[in-house]
Amino acid sequence: MAGNHYLASIDIGTEKIALLVADKEDNGHLRIIGHNICSSEGVRKGSLYSIDSLSRVLTKLIEKTQKSFDLDLARVRVNISDTHLTCTDGKGKVSINEAVTLQDLDSVLESAMAMSTPTNKEKLHIIKKKFTIDESVVVDNPMDMEAEVLESKVHIVTVSSSSVRNIENCLKQSELEVEKIVLNPIAKSQAVLTQEEKNSGICLVDMGAGVTSYSVFHEEGIVRSGVIGIGGDEVTQEIADAFDTSLEEAKRLKEIYGSAKSSSLNEEKFIDFNQSTNKGEHQLSSLELSEVIEGAYRDIFVLLKNELKHHNLEGIIKSGFVLCGGASEINSIEELVRDFFSKRVKIGQIQRSRISGLETILTDYMYTGAIGLLLHEGDLSKSEFIMSSNGNGVIGKLKKAIVGNF
Ligand SMILES: Nc1ncnc2c1ncn2[C@@H]1O[C@H](COP(=O)(O)OP(=O)(O)OP(=O)(O)O)[C@@H](O)[C@H]1O
Ligand SMILES: [Mg+2]
Repeated sequence: MAGNHYLASIDIGTEKIALLVADKEDNGHLRIIGHNICSSEGVRKGSLYSIDSLSRVLTKLIEKTQKSFDLDLARVRVNISDTHLTCTDGKGKVSINEAVTLQDLDSVLESAMAMSTPTNKEKLHIIKKKFTIDESVVVDNPMDMEAEVLESKVHIVTVSSSSVRNIENCLKQSELEVEKIVLNPIAKSQAVLTQEEKNSGICLVDMGAGVTSYSVFHEEGIVRSGVIGIGGDEVTQEIADAFDTSLEEAKRLKEIYGSAKSSSLNEEKFIDFNQSTNKGEHQLSSLELSEVIEGAYRDIFVLLKNELKHHNLEGIIKSGFVLCGGASEINSIEELVRDFFSKRVKIGQIQRSRISGLETILTDYMYTGAIGLLLHEGDLSKSEFIMSSNGNGVIGKLKKAIVGNF
């Protein structure tokens, strides 16, 4: 049996659950050594609604993976989607006596992250952004620099406490301890975005089955994340309604013949399909199918556009969009997004510099979330603090976080 020193991650989605285990090499590089996927249960629109159902499938998935790869899993990283999350930038300011010390960094970050949260919410992520020296010079790491005043900014993501407890309790039922919980698009951003892309102003969009979530980055770091309560399942539902099919048949039509941009179709084809009420043979036009699909995708992008507009993010997204998640697998999605937002767009690919494994895993959209969870770092969240020797600071953690790559 292998020990418990491996990193393990579970991406719990509305449609599927993906599990990965990786070995961390001495240089920090991760090598995937175990993997598995199963259908999800007990999750609706990205949120857990039945601990028992989810725990049952999780337990099976874990047992199977442990047996297949001879592993013994105890702690896992897991994702969360919360349509009620909030994002705020906390600011801190301290006077400096000559040069910036670790103690100063500790104080300025502590004051930036001191924001209070409502009783039913908790801080999930506290992400370090840039520091400002004497109100003019912006730096990543001000350590040992001469200064009179040091300011810091942290990005704070709060989520509902009950969502967090539900995930923890569910994993507990499956005899797993939660190492950390990471917001979906933040985890995926670690898997598919380069630092240059983040600096240049980019929006990562994770198009799942039940939800579409996004995170926006620019040179100062992460700006905002959000979760919109519709995804690929909505597209399936629209097809089923339009052509009177079962959801299963609608999903098949979408995934095999679908296109998100009807004007990109080269030729109209006629597709055999089954209706729910009228038995017998039927055909539908690929053009009509695509028109329905395009309409459903446009509905998702209208909500995303409104959200980006509402938070004044459109101007920040200079380098456009990176798409991931199952619903972004549809044909011509890039054309539709380019046309809709008038921005550059591409499908996210796993960044190979920090992780390796089977090609079939690194190129399968189903594992992107679990890979992002394995790669996740750079967070100052309370749970990750390593206390300094006097037991009440965050210095030990900061030494690591200052060189982190958010
Ligand atoms: N080739 C394809 N064309 C269109 N849609 C697809 C394709 N492949 C998968 N999908 C859709 O992707 C969705 C599943 O994506 P994903 O696995 O990312 O969701 P999830 O992580 O389980 O859910 P969520 O993140 O919303 O909780 C489904 O709606 C599925 O129909
Ligand atoms: Mg997902």
